[in-house]
Amino acid sequence: MASVDYQSSFILILILSFLFVYYFKKPKNVSNLPPSPPSLPFIGHLHLLFSCSIHKSFQKVSSKYGPLLHLRNFNVPVVLVSSASVVYEIFKDHDMNVSSHGAIGNDDCIVFGSSGFIQAPYGDYWKFMKKIIITNMLGPQALERLRGVRAVEVERFYRNLLDKAMNKQSVEIGEEAMRLDNSILGTMSMGRGFSKENNEAKVSKFTVEFASLAQKIFLAQILRKPLEKIGISPFKKEIMDASYRFEELLERIIVKCEERVYEDQGPEVMETLLAAYRGDNAEYKITRNQIKALLAELFFGGGDTSSTTTRWAMAELINNPKVLERLREEIDSMIGETRLIQETDLPKLLYLQAVIKESLRLHPPGVLLPREFEHGCNIRGFYIPKGTKLVINAYAMMRNPNSWKDSDEFKPERFLGKEEEKREKLLNFLPFGFGRRACPGSNLGYILVGTAIGVMVQCFDWDIGGEKVNMEEASRRAFLAMAHPLKCTPLPRILNPLPSL
Ligand code: HEM
Repeated sequence: MASVDYQSSFILILILSFLFVYYFKKPKNVSNLPPSPPSLPFIGHLHLLFSCSIHKSFQKVSSKYGPLLHLRNFNVPVVLVSSASVVYEIFKDHDMNVSSHGAIGNDDCIVFGSSGFIQAPYGDYWKFMKKIIITNMLGPQALERLRGVRAVEVERFYRNLLDKAMNKQSVEIGEEAMRLDNSILGTMSMGRGFSKENNEAKVSKFTVEFASLAQKIFLAQILRKPLEKIGISPFKKEIMDASYRFEELLERIIVKCEERVYEDQGPEVMETLLAAYRGDNAEYKITRNQIKALLAELFFGGGDTSSTTTRWAMAELINNPKVLERLREEIDSMIGETRLIQETDLPKLLYLQAVIKESLRLHPPGVLLPREFEHGCNIRGFYIPKGTKLVINAYAMMRNPNSWKDSDEFKPERFLGKEEEKREKLLNFLPFGFGRRACPGSNLGYILVGTAIGVMVQCFDWDIGGEKVNMEEASRRAFLAMAHPLKCTPLPRILNPLPSL
């Protein structure tokens, strides 16, 4: 179904492109732009965006024509970067200039819309919301305050897997991880009642739906300007249909928070957001839609990314038994078999950290990092005009054979040496983005993935009913996802890590 949909959209756009020639002035002949690969008439390099894996078609183009390229979709200019040294130069000299994620595809959409945090321009609203989430949820002190919330959910995760193991039932690891992550995010932001009503399952359904709409959302961002000139809002109906349903769910949850139904756990984020909505806080007054959009984006940007990473990391461990064995030895020697791994154990589990980093290097959820140049500037001696979109191909950079030995192989050891720490600093490793718009949830992300992998490795063996996990990438998803479910059966490995069981 999806491919028919895309083919027909592509044909439609090709036809439209011939009409466009009458509507558009030729792009201004700016000299000294970065080099550009051969392009098609009118549509420029648009065809690259219709491939199943945009990051791979960009990777191919960059390896042939260079790490700093100028592309054009109709007359929308894009600079494609796939080298750490160019990213470093942008980060060092132009971070402020590229501190917005760029155009919005659908203003009213709950995710990536104009009420949200992710697409908000770098300015007062973004700073206000960032302060709220760092102070109340994602900063080091908030993470410490809310550690108990996560511990309860991790224990629930373990009990659920144990139950499945006892009944010899299989589980889909990504789904289990997503339920864990969304219940933690929901409880951290909205209180314990969030999980009691099984909201994590409902939220997970929406994040999966948005993940599958993501390429359309991305295309809408890029094509909105040219297509709106002829009265077309790309993919609007489909995107908004999902958006309205997600909004309804969030509205119901917010009403319960207002009625203080979820009283037990002081959900600081929600309290602060509601105070700003009521105008109790003179600093900034926010709208109800802005609250919903922030929550939706925290689930989408935090839950989907973290559970996707957990799934990739488990798949790599199952396919690399020696790595799994070494990780288990580390966990057994540091923690033993009489208690369940806790997040306070993570800093000393260096090999576990290396496994997660290596998994993020090979399978970064955010394969492409989009930004926009607010002003014209010079990079590497080339001129980049104001309003040019910037796309950093993090996937290509983290698999670049010139920067990473055996770049396509899963070798967590590479993150144990000092050499790799230097590399990280040189921005060769950027699964969480870079600069002032880098991911504010990276610490929580490491905790969510680390504890989930830790529990699954410490307490269970995993039967996949075959030899190897198929590592094929899904196409047209928001975050780099696995094409096939990771279904396996847990087999209990240690007997009772929870004293109360
Ligand atoms: C393994 C887990 C995660 C990965 C790989 C990841 C990755 C990313 C990436 C690549 C970006 C874009 C950065 C850029 O443009 O330079 C981002 C942004 C963001 N992430 Fe994460 N993330 C993860 C977990 C989380 C968590 C747990 C949260 C919070 C609950 C979160 C919240 C956000 C937010 C709000 C933004 C937008 C930041 C802004 O626009 O200023 N992420 N993340």
